[in-house]
Formats: sequence, C-alpha cells, structure tokens
Amino acid sequence: MNPIHFEFNSSNTNEAVLFLLLVFVLVVIIASLWVHALYQARRKAKELEEELQRKNKELQKVIVELKTTQVRLIESGKMSAAAALSAGILHQISQPITAIHGFVRFMKQEMPKENLFYRPVCLMDEQSVYLKEMLDNLMTIIRHRKIQKTSIGVNAVVERSLNLLTDELRIRRVNWETDLDHSVPEIFADPVHLQQIFMNIVVNACEALAALPRGQERQLHVFSKFDSMNRKVEIAFKDNGPGIPEEVKKHVFEPFFSTKSSGTGIGLALCHDLVAEHGGTINVDSGPGGTTFTVILSVGAS
Ligand SMILES: Nc1ncnc2c1ncn2[C@@H]1O[C@H](COP(=O)(O)OP(=O)(O)O)[C@@H](O)[C@H]1O
Ligand SMILES: [Mg+2]
Repeated sequence: MNPIHFEFNSSNTNEAVLFLLLVFVLVVIIASLWVHALYQARRKAKELEEELQRKNKELQKVIVELKTTQVRLIESGKMSAAAALSAGILHQISQPITAIHGFVRFMKQEMPKENLFYRPVCLMDEQSVYLKEMLDNLMTIIRHRKIQKTSIGVNAVVERSLNLLTDELRIRRVNWETDLDHSVPEIFADPVHLQQIFMNIVVNACEALAALPRGQERQLHVFSKFDSMNRKVEIAFKDNGPGIPEEVKKHVFEPFFSTKSSGTGIGLALCHDLVAEHGGTINVDSGPGGTTFTVILSVGAS
C-alpha cells in the first residue's frame, strides 16, 4: 500500500483561499439577489393586496348602487304598469258617471222644487259632481299630468280638500278641526296636485281612525304654519288613530305597500312623488297616540 502523498505548498494555499473567496462572493451575490427578489415580491404582494382591497371596496359600492337602481327600476315598472291599468279602469268608470250626471242635471232642471224627490236628486247631482271631479283628478295624476304651478294659498287648498271629504269625515264620525296660519304666504305650486296629496292623507287618517274602539273620540287636527326663518310652509295632519308600527313606517311611501285588505298602496307613494316634484318633503311621525303627516313646501321655489 502506497501512503497518500500530499504536497502542501504556498501556491496551493493561495489558490484555495482565492477559490473560497470566490465562492463566498458568489454566495453573497446570490444571497443579496435572493433577498432583493424576496423584498420585491413582498412589496408587489402588498401592493396587489392593497389594490385588491381598493377594488373590493369599489365593487361593494357598485353592488349597492346596482341594487338601488334595480329596486327603482322594479318600482317604476310596477308604477307604470299599474298607472296604465288604473287609467283604463278610470276611463271606463268615468263614462257612465258622466251619463248619470247628465240625466240627474236634466231631472233637477225639470223637477218642481216641491216634488218629494227634488232633495235626493240635488244630492245625487252634488255627489256625481264630486265623483267626476275625483276621477278627473285621479286621471290627471295617473296620466302623469305635467305639473302646472301657479301662485296659490295653501290654506285654501287645505279647506277645499276637507270640503270635498266632508261626507267621508261625517260617515266615519271624525271630529276635525283646522288651525290655519293666515300669515302663510302664497306659494308656487300645482293646486290639483296639492289637493290630491292632502285628500290622500285625510282619507288614510279616516281609515286609521275607523280602527279605534267604539266610543273613543276620533280626532283629526289639520294645521298650517309658516316657518319664516327657513321660508317654508308646513301643513300637518294629526290623527289620534292607532299609530303605525316602526317596521310598517319604513314602507308607507313605497308603491303598492298596504296593510289594508282592500288597499292599493298607491296613495302615499303618489303623495311622496308629487311633493318631491314640488321640491318639498313629506314626513311621518307616529306613535301609539296617533299619526302626523307633515308636508313641507318652500316659499318662492319655482
Ligand atoms: N294615518 C295613518 N295611520 C295609520 N297608518 C297609516 C296612516 N296613513 C297611512 N298608513 C299606513 O300606510 C299604508 C300605505 O298607505 P297608502 O299608500 O295610502 O295605501 P292604502 O291606503 O291603499 O293602504 C297604509 O296601508 C297604512 O298601513
Ligand atoms: Mg290610502
């Protein structure tokens, strides 16, 4: 066996040191490149994560907007379908009423005042005028009659609306009183639309009051007020009915929302639209002691 011969000289040592140095430099270069790449990747990942979060937020916003638009579209679709149907029905009803009204007028003219039927005929005449007027108003609104603003006194429209509903109020045994502020200035509004708004609110109040137990007084308090500081007119209708539960209150202005077995759910939705067309607001305040609907309109808004 030959022993391994190993020559240990200085040139070999230098080469080994040089080689080790080279390896070390290479390792350092590779390590720093690797660290740099890792750092870059981390930064990129963080940027991507932030970008993702931003996009996510934007997406959430778009989803909310889409949902709102979808609800609006469904509602307007429902409204226009119902409006077309209602306009058709109203047209069918108004024709016989016009004929009845013509005959009644004729009977009234021809009948001597002493006749036993003279008084009922006068009442029929009065009621058919009222019916015709109601139908005309409904038609104009359902057909989306263009708003026709003029300078008007709100108090006069309130009184007229209540006068048109005198029978309804009497039949339902509602004690109503008005407290109208005579300092209310004239406003620029559509009297037909305002009358429709007020009548809808009063009819709803009458219907709510009918739910009170027998013997309990049914009250409807209508008042107007001028807020001179903000140049606004407020018309409030306060009833002492059973009130509106919180979960119902959220929906009362939605089209086709009704808690009544034979309700249409159109009344307050129309009120809401018509008030909005006047640049105003309609609020509801309700509790176990009753409900108040307040219409707020600006003075001087055109
Ligand atoms: N004065 C009121 N008191 C209690 N509930 C009311 C009153 N006014 C409106 N509401 C509620 O608002 C709902 C929507 O009213 P509306 O749009 O006029 O439709 P409708 O009268 O056909 O039900 C009613 O069904 C009722 O639940
Ligand atoms: Mg109603």
